[in-house]
Amino acid sequence: MEGRTPSMTNPSSPARFYLTTPIYYVNARPHLGHAYSTIVCDAIARRKRALGIETWFLTGTDEHGQKIERSAKLAGRTPQEFAAAISGQFRSLWDQLGLTYDDFIRTTEERHKRGVQHLFATLRERGFIYKGSYTGQYCVFDELYVDGPPGTPCPDCGRITETVSEENYFFKLSAFERKLLKFYEANPSFMGPESTRREVISFVRGGLKDLSVSRTSFSWGIPVPGDEKHVIYVWLDALANYITALGYGSGDAADQARFAKFWPADMHLIGKEISRFHCVYWPAFLIAAGIDPPRSVHANGWLLFDQGKMSKSRGNIVRAETVHTVLGSDALRYFLLREIPFGQDGNFSFDALVQRYNGDLANGYGNLVSRVVNMVHKYFGGVVPEAGAETRMETALHESAQRTLAEFVPQFDNLNFSDALKTLWSLVAETDGYLTANAPWKRPENRSEIEHAEHQARVLATAAEAIRIITALVYPVLPDAAAKVWRQLGQGEIADAARQSFLAHLEWGGLKPGTIFEAPAPLFPRAEKDAIERMVAMEEQNSQSVIEAAGSVAVAEPTEPKVPRSAEPAPAQEPKKKAERKPMEETEPTPAPESASTSASAPAAVGASVASQPATASPAAAPEAQPASPQVITIDDFAKVELRVAQVLVAERIPKADKLLRLEVDLGYERRQILAGIAQYYEPEKLIGRKIVIVANLAPRKMRGLESNGMLLAASLPPDGAPVLAGFLEDVPLGARLK
Ligand code: MSP
Repeated sequence: MEGRTPSMTNPSSPARFYLTTPIYYVNARPHLGHAYSTIVCDAIARRKRALGIETWFLTGTDEHGQKIERSAKLAGRTPQEFAAAISGQFRSLWDQLGLTYDDFIRTTEERHKRGVQHLFATLRERGFIYKGSYTGQYCVFDELYVDGPPGTPCPDCGRITETVSEENYFFKLSAFERKLLKFYEANPSFMGPESTRREVISFVRGGLKDLSVSRTSFSWGIPVPGDEKHVIYVWLDALANYITALGYGSGDAADQARFAKFWPADMHLIGKEISRFHCVYWPAFLIAAGIDPPRSVHANGWLLFDQGKMSKSRGNIVRAETVHTVLGSDALRYFLLREIPFGQDGNFSFDALVQRYNGDLANGYGNLVSRVVNMVHKYFGGVVPEAGAETRMETALHESAQRTLAEFVPQFDNLNFSDALKTLWSLVAETDGYLTANAPWKRPENRSEIEHAEHQARVLATAAEAIRIITALVYPVLPDAAAKVWRQLGQGEIADAARQSFLAHLEWGGLKPGTIFEAPAPLFPRAEKDAIERMVAMEEQNSQSVIEAAGSVAVAEPTEPKVPRSAEPAPAQEPKKKAERKPMEETEPTPAPESASTSASAPAAVGASVASQPATASPAAAPEAQPASPQVITIDDFAKVELRVAQVLVAERIPKADKLLRLEVDLGYERRQILAGIAQYYEPEKLIGRKIVIVANLAPRKMRGLESNGMLLAASLPPDGAPVLAGFLEDVPLGARLK
């Protein structure tokens, strides 16, 4: 099936659409940054399906590699257990958020392993993989080979790279430099946004070296077929998920048919930092294997929180569950798509979230629906009246709705979600204004009762039709709310309408007279101030807990220790600009919306004083997380310990001492020798260049005839006290004091 000649063109196929999220590393639990890409894909998938396009939406988890192996070890779990627990967390979060993926692939599945080995064997057979040796720098965190001498920081994450020296298999990436540049030129829409395109092209123009595609220094991966001491490079393994999930490498006829039907993918949606893997390595692997490259790769920007990229290692994550619990998943979807121009970085803040929620959803769309549905019930017994002839005002609204449709569609389909929603909300505002200007609840003295009934019928039927159009268009973004409104408008189940491609036939005039409305129901209860407090408290509480329960398996946060955000209880945050609810007209029958903080579905407030709660720790996973009897020292006691940053210059084993390493470290102002009992856990050559923390004022001590001048700082892990050296994410000068 993969023997087709790559067409190197980029034809779009309207009949089917295959889109994918990146597959998520299982070294840490999911956070909003991960939810972002998956939510964007879900919105796209829902719209495509509702246009009648056969859609396949793939997501999953990336479970191999040294990073996962180490994380599992730190958590005292096998990699299998560890990966299964975290993968389960991702999947159940996507389910909780109602994300409509068609397949969830785990790279530890047999179907994937088979496909990856088939791909590797194909590349080798076609002469694109050969054996060689590699000595150089490797970033385990990003699973990235880095050029430079020992101690070079990773260009992506800044962590110090490790020196690896291995006999490896290599992929002839250097043969693809010109081919890729030609491919990009022939397919200008292959990658976006423009910044990604420029970056990738300049990377390729800078020259491509052959790529090491196997490792021997660890075993948590897919073995190279026929040479099992090598495992396949994690990025070759991971990228292949996009084809193995469709059945690539399987002999099964149904799998082959699915692969033939959906490949090449229409869209890989990825985070901007992994565009090199997707836009350079991936098309090169595919072309080399005789498979068409994907039609497009689109990079989203980063979700920032507290000024930095939201990530576990910075300790600044917000969980999607928190927003979902307090405001609902529609609120989260709307915020992410409306607030952040796709492709750019965007800030997440609880203030901004609640402002958008109250302003656009509770007071905007929700209030408009509630006004109209209530009045149709009050004045027409819930039955849509005949609108009669349009006046100038109805024509204006009708034309606006058509303009909105014409603008929204290309904006959304070009991933310009923020502008698409802005366009749609202009129609919300215009419909609201139309209602207010025509005041169907008020009969002027010079208007007869019959004339007034006609006026009411015209205005309410017209406004309800505008709401129907708005609701259909916003369905991919607000699926839960749209489903409720669809029912209230007497249109039945929106999921059925989507199956019947309702978005392909959306035009003005679809709401028929005589349609029976369902009873009004609140959509977006207004969020009160305590909604922010509750979300902040939930996150504070979560950031203090060391252990996450994943199903029945306890998984420790595997790397950097958590930095408590604050020692004080979470302050009550006031939205910067209070989103005022528009006063309701005196006689208008819409009930005041409920508040989100009192809604039946919302749980009781989380205790305010989170700082006083001890971190929950499972004895099984981290017995040393809490001392048995806390001993208090004064700040003066602590000040006596001189902790300083040092860099390892020399590291070697000591003959006949199998636990000790002899290190020479540079403190910036002096060089000194330290003996450390870490030989069973660290290869000496991997320590060279690494920045560590030492106790610099410890009295010298002699061991095996050598003097040790200081002590390294390391976490000690169960069950056998395995050390993990303390380090820094940011670059720190040598000799800097830790206080
Ligand atoms: N496993 C690789 C991807 C392999 S795809 C064949 C990986 N995993 S990841 O878990 O580190 O990241 C997965 C995706 O989540 C990336 O696209 C990344 O950009 C995205 N995000 C993680 N944190 C993010 C933000 N704070 N903001 C936006 N997206 C972020 O890379």
